[in-house]
Amino acid sequence: MRIGMLTGGGDCPGLNAVMRAIVRAGTVRHGDELIGFHNGWRGMIEGDHEVLDRERLRGVLPVGGTILGSSRTNPSKVDGGFEAVEATFASLGLDALIAIGGEDTLGVARHLHERGVAVVGVPKTIDNDLSGTDVTFGFHTAVQTCTDAIDRLHTTSESHDRVMVVEVMGRHAGHIALWSGIAGGATVVLVPEHPFDIADVCAAIRRRHEGHKRTASIVVVAEGAVPVEGTLSVADGEVDAFGHARLGGIGATLAAAIKERTGFDTRETVLGHVQRGGTPTAFDRVLATRFGVEAVEAVHDGDLGTMIALRGERLARIPLAEAVGQLKLVDPALLEIAHLFEG
Ligand code: F6P
Repeated sequence: MRIGMLTGGGDCPGLNAVMRAIVRAGTVRHGDELIGFHNGWRGMIEGDHEVLDRERLRGVLPVGGTILGSSRTNPSKVDGGFEAVEATFASLGLDALIAIGGEDTLGVARHLHERGVAVVGVPKTIDNDLSGTDVTFGFHTAVQTCTDAIDRLHTTSESHDRVMVVEVMGRHAGHIALWSGIAGGATVVLVPEHPFDIADVCAAIRRRHEGHKRTASIVVVAEGAVPVEGTLSVADGEVDAFGHARLGGIGATLAAAIKERTGFDTRETVLGHVQRGGTPTAFDRVLATRFGVEAVEAVHDGDLGTMIALRGERLARIPLAEAVGQLKLVDPALLEIAHLFEG
């Protein structure tokens, strides 16, 4: 078979590992030819591609980013975008396409499937917000990166008796904040799923500092966290090709409000794209490898229009429509555990 692949949306650790697995499984098990498109859907629209063989993928398992490049190009926002994708698919004689991406990329894949294109999806995102799978690769690495940063902020926070506000990514789901907040022993964790009251945040920080000469207070805030209406004003961001607001800035707003209300010296750290870079953890390398191999098998079994998912310990193939239907939000029980350690 001739199988195309692309990586779309924000990059994340493990993308190269999944492509390496696709190439290995495709060539060794089935004698497939693999084609990689550059820069997500843009490469398919423009026909910008390269042949991927085992040599090209040599040494990339531990390397972050994507050797194919990525973009947030949305074919539905480009004149004749879907027709161009289909023309490229046909002109290269592809039998199937493996789309590796998050909600947006897989949403495009779902639409293409409905138009009759043979496509299989592989879920990736540091945000871990895809409802069809228990976990996406990239998430585990991002959580570890944030936890390492929080550990470092702890010591400097304690030395100066400061409050440290750490803003992490995750869009409208608080998985990264919640996991790294619990792992890093945060005083307060704020997630988009649960609007926060600045008065409660300040009360928790005061409790934490009571009776201590010097204490580290860490507030982990998800970039998509929102205050209870009317309690704090927050600026709006720009919007991308998929209609998502560019988030960021809540950390600075929060740090200023905490300082003003408590009098504690308060600083913010925005971890930003550091969370998307670097070498994947062992867990993410293995998950990405399993997803890649399974995607090739799904293509050969004719299980098209599906996304590979992790359900418990096992892999599953679920309809793309189910995979991108709704966001996976944080588990309220896990949030309760974070609250137990507040203050
Ligand atoms: O979806 C991954 C993600 O890193 C989000 O957590 C974040 O909001 C967004 O991408 C940032 O996108 P960009 O790299 O386009 O600024």
